[in-house]
Amino acid sequence: MSSDNLHPIFERVLSRAEKEQGLKQRARVIWLYGLSGSGKSTLAIGLERKLYAEGFTTHLLDGDNVRTGLNRGLGFSDADRAENIRRVAEVAKLFTQAGVVTLCSFITPLRSLRVAAREIIGGDDFFEIYVKASFDTCAQRDPKGLYAKAGTGGVKQFTGRDSGFEPPAEGDASLVIDTESEGVEASLSRLHAYVLPKIQIS
Ligand code: ADX
Repeated sequence: MSSDNLHPIFERVLSRAEKEQGLKQRARVIWLYGLSGSGKSTLAIGLERKLYAEGFTTHLLDGDNVRTGLNRGLGFSDADRAENIRRVAEVAKLFTQAGVVTLCSFITPLRSLRVAAREIIGGDDFFEIYVKASFDTCAQRDPKGLYAKAGTGGVKQFTGRDSGFEPPAEGDASLVIDTESEGVEASLSRLHAYVLPKIQIS
């Protein structure tokens, strides 16, 4: 569809700065990525609860949840994952325009997907957190039984098995949380300490 007949009114709507002022916070996107079972959702849920208790206005977008609604119908081919991430990044951007601190928890397996999300959201607002745990560790944890299922052919294009996962290159991730060497509470306080100064307003 041609965009010739669209006339966006971005400059007339109540500004993000006004909304951030009202909410007494800076809107940012905290994007957690890593293998299924690495601990992304646990950390995102824990972080959101902490921030909420401190009075921040937040929202959490999580792969399994978003895929039952907005992204219902998308699968796990490279093209569908790219569309999944594109839509989520656009939604996260809308939330930042509303002044909301937005936590995203998605496998985001390829570097190109992380770059695409950063481009949509904007580098100043986007913080990439790699939640690190090896395939073997995640397979042992197997909280949803998906690794066992994938092992017997029950889940196709499973990340790390028959669909690729690219860990960050040196300097890509804003923060790395190694959930193999660190417990949930320690990881959570490190993540919280990292995020807090980014969303506090002086
Ligand atoms: S992403 O690759 O497009 O970023 P996303 O985070 O939205 O993935 O969804 C991953 C979740 O979908 C996993 O946590 C898991 O519960 C479920 N899932 C179902 N099939 C697969 C699969 N083939 N590969 C990975 N995760 C899958």
